[in-house]
Amino acid sequence: MSEATRGRRRSPRDLVGGTPTETWSLRFDDRELPAQTGQSIAAVLWSAGILAWRTTRETATPRGAFCGIGSCYDCLVTVNGRPNQRACLVPARPGDHVTTQEGTGHGDLAV
Ligand code: FES
Repeated sequence: MSEATRGRRRSPRDLVGGTPTETWSLRFDDRELPAQTGQSIAAVLWSAGILAWRTTRETATPRGAFCGIGSCYDCLVTVNGRPNQRACLVPARPGDHVTTQEGTGHGDLAV
């Protein structure tokens, strides 16, 4: 670690020297979370210290992002009423309403 970065928090954006062009709030359940241009929904949740945002069908075990590249499907979340969206791939957009997903996300269908 260089002298310049010692003692301060680094992010992937810092590593590439990027600067957000826009910031806004994203609604997650009953919270407003700060979001920046270019962040995935998973990145917004992680930045807020949220590591789990769904539960599994069989055992209701908490899950969040695992692979971060769209392969594991552990990060499923409901975005604007659409369940089963991979938070690691979906870009955060102004006005998004993200909700915790339980099981398949189709519990309201009662099938
Ligand atoms: S973290 Fe694996 S698919 Fe999103």
